[in-house]
Amino acid sequence: MSARVFVRGLVMAFQRIESIHDIRTVAFVDVSGSFAPVFKELIARFRVSKAVYKSESEALSGIPATQADIAFIGPFSTDHSIRKLSHCQQLRSSGYHGVIILLTEEISSFGGTSGITAAGFDHYLLDSDIDAQLEDSVNWAILNRRRKNKYTLQFDNNPDALFTVDSEGRVFDINQWGTDGSGLSPKMIVVGAVNVMELGTLDCFESLIRPLIVEGNAGKTFMNSVNEGERVFQVQCRVHDVSMIGLVATVVKTDITETMYTRSMDILINSVNLLSERDNYTAGHSSRVYHYCRLISQTMGITGDKKFIRDLYFAALLHDIGKIGVRDYILLKKGPLTDQEHEVLCSHSEKGFKILQNYQFLEGSIGLVLSHHERPDGKGYPQKLISEKIPFGASIISVADGFDAMTTTRPYRKPLKYEKALAEIRDNIGTQYDPDVANAFLSTVRRETLKEATEKSTAGLSALSNELIESLL
Ligand SMILES: [Fe+2]
Ligand SMILES: [Fe+2]
Repeated sequence: MSARVFVRGLVMAFQRIESIHDIRTVAFVDVSGSFAPVFKELIARFRVSKAVYKSESEALSGIPATQADIAFIGPFSTDHSIRKLSHCQQLRSSGYHGVIILLTEEISSFGGTSGITAAGFDHYLLDSDIDAQLEDSVNWAILNRRRKNKYTLQFDNNPDALFTVDSEGRVFDINQWGTDGSGLSPKMIVVGAVNVMELGTLDCFESLIRPLIVEGNAGKTFMNSVNEGERVFQVQCRVHDVSMIGLVATVVKTDITETMYTRSMDILINSVNLLSERDNYTAGHSSRVYHYCRLISQTMGITGDKKFIRDLYFAALLHDIGKIGVRDYILLKKGPLTDQEHEVLCSHSEKGFKILQNYQFLEGSIGLVLSHHERPDGKGYPQKLISEKIPFGASIISVADGFDAMTTTRPYRKPLKYEKALAEIRDNIGTQYDPDVANAFLSTVRRETLKEATEKSTAGLSALSNELIESLL
């Protein structure tokens, strides 16, 4: 059968198939020009937008970009059967998801049906029984589009960043979140063959994902977490062996910063709350110290430094958590402490440091917890640091802590009057308290500040912690 007869048969088949009306876009790779009559017929009779590619390179960039419902690969000749197979593979590698139909007069030179399927073609049209074959192809294309629409909805609207990459970093699929920050669209990345390492949205590829894309891992799923700046991501990586492509990883990158902060802080705040069941003072004390630290930060104009503020506020809420390791007879003792008891009580800074060092997001807070009882004159604990060696955040907590300790009832003494507490701070500037911090506090604190801090603390530590997390993210 000649090419002309084949083309005529195809034209007539198009005319007879009802479902062709559901096809919107068709692409023809027609280097020979043999299909000109088909295009003419399609344009005349149906509302089908079509694109004709007369060169292979044009087709390879154009078809993935337009995502036609069906791409017919001709010409009607078996001369270049091997090249046609590779065209199909290249179209798939370039991110074309539509139906690819091979037009041919025989299939043996392609390795039969299995060779054609293995090459990535969905169907082939032979010159015999062309009606049924075309109808099958068209129906498959319609189904494929519906399936793809559904997939696209689930994929693109997924709140996580999704990627499919091979071990070379070639991106086969990516959703909008995966492109975030790159300034490129998913289409630009897939069609333009942008390597995932150039994107900057999957920085953990080299260290975490590439080593997993190896034989033997196919079918396995791996979970990891990575920190990127201030945020924490969970990275789920499943390795697949995909025909025509080889080993790829489907990666789901989920921002777990808020969940991780909230869950970790819930556990820690619960510990502080449990401590306050034993020592009534601690929960209210932590809240008030947090408020005084905020006040000092605002007065000193340092709230713009987000990392510093985050570390300071978490440390303020948790600074005395180490007291959970101090026994009641010391913690609640009404009389003066023996030297040994005093030493145990002082160990709460180090105990707190040890508890919190298991939480990576508190990395910047643990040093402040450790040093919140240091003094500029070197008479503090646990390291007896002097002035500039004391972390600035710890100096802020120290003033806030000292003021609250003085103005609240303790098991061993009544609260100091407001003016007396201020005088105590003033008298100990440079020895117990950092001059800049203490002066900032003294310049802004009012009698009402005490009442406000107490009122705010009634909301509870958990509420304060949640409010803090919300403000940070
Ligand atoms: Fe303390
Ligand atoms: Fe304290």
